[in-house]
Amino acid sequence: MVNVAQLRKLKNLPPQEPDFLRRQVDSYYIDRVAPWGGGHIMIGRAPGEDAVRLVSNDYLCMARHPEVISAQCEALEKGDSALLMAAVFLHGDNPQARFERQMAQWMHAESAVLSQSGWAANTGLIQSIAGPKVPCYIDMFAHASLWEGIRSAQASAHPFRHNAPEHLESLLRRHGPGVVIVDSVYSTSGSIAPLSDIVSVAERHGAVIVVDEAHSLGTHGPEGRGLVVELGLTSRVHFRTASLAKAFAGRAGIVTCSERIAEFLKYTANPAIFSSGLLPHELAGLEATLQVISRSEDRRRHLHRNADYLRAGLSDLGYNLELSEAQILGLEAGPELATMALRDALEARGVFGSVFCAPATPKNRSLIRFTVNSELSPAELDRVISVCAEIREEVDLASWPSTRRRRHPPLAAVANA
Ligand SMILES: Cc1ncc(COP(=O)(O)O)c(C=O)c1O
Repeated sequence: MVNVAQLRKLKNLPPQEPDFLRRQVDSYYIDRVAPWGGGHIMIGRAPGEDAVRLVSNDYLCMARHPEVISAQCEALEKGDSALLMAAVFLHGDNPQARFERQMAQWMHAESAVLSQSGWAANTGLIQSIAGPKVPCYIDMFAHASLWEGIRSAQASAHPFRHNAPEHLESLLRRHGPGVVIVDSVYSTSGSIAPLSDIVSVAERHGAVIVVDEAHSLGTHGPEGRGLVVELGLTSRVHFRTASLAKAFAGRAGIVTCSERIAEFLKYTANPAIFSSGLLPHELAGLEATLQVISRSEDRRRHLHRNADYLRAGLSDLGYNLELSEAQILGLEAGPELATMALRDALEARGVFGSVFCAPATPKNRSLIRFTVNSELSPAELDRVISVCAEIREEVDLASWPSTRRRRHPPLAAVANA
């Protein structure tokens, strides 16, 4: 007679889940996934060959750029021994230090510190600069990695209303100097932060400011240097961060800061100490990408032209894109079941966006994000617009909370009035 433990071993089954773990996982399947009536909301159908994909953050189509690929291949073939270790062990001049200097110079900053991802850059920065109980004033739509940094610093989060400098000011008055944290371009709606006003408020109250430029570095500003450079705020913003997995199409993150703080970050940010750094071919690819990006005015122009065209077309159809000012367009169906209906209607017609739901958005503000890139053709954009026109009744656009929130009626409605 075999007992249960022997049977598990015989059948190569994993160990039994203790109660606390079973409850935790049950709540995912029962409370989260079951109301979706099958699979996870993120999983729709697979795109076919001719699908229009509006999902990648490779805004300037850098991933396949021949100069980037050949720089990566050359580094791999050269076989420079990859130092598989955390960045804290890097000494002297090295490829990472060289790329950091290039990025700092390009972004008009004194110094830059590279990390493994935008997530690592943000969590490591906030964890290092905000001690326990330091007030952190964060836009309520700021990226989750910035919230995670506050959590790991055990600092106090004081969220302010999205893009509302006056609300930020009232919180600063109440809680005193601390760290003000915003994104330059918000990743679900494509809204742009009123950076000049936010910086002025932060300065008036002696606060430090962190701007996450993940969605503006490479795409905005002179030669793609970002919005802080474009607005002439470099000497007033203490820290800029960015994921280099967007326009740079790599796997890395960056923080700009003063030289003094750069050293402090390199030896205090947990991802720099406890997680391995980048590989030589990744650094070579990023260096080549920087060269290409800084002379990619045409790509930037195409990107913004494509985004403007799609935004105008969808807006005329009645979709509320009033928040979007950049290459991110959020079709906010609201409740998750409405977003699933939208996902299915789009995908059935060969248009693929990304589902954003809780925890990336508030529970009742889920949406499909369309991410525009510089190489989308006019025919592809027209196809997206005509699909969105065709599905309006099927997805019940008129009943979406975002449609009812719209301040300005679509132009077509004005013309027909
Ligand atoms: C605003 C913002 N910051 C940080 C990140 C994290 O970047 P990464 O994917 O490089 O970890 C993202 C990615 O989704 C983002 O949108």
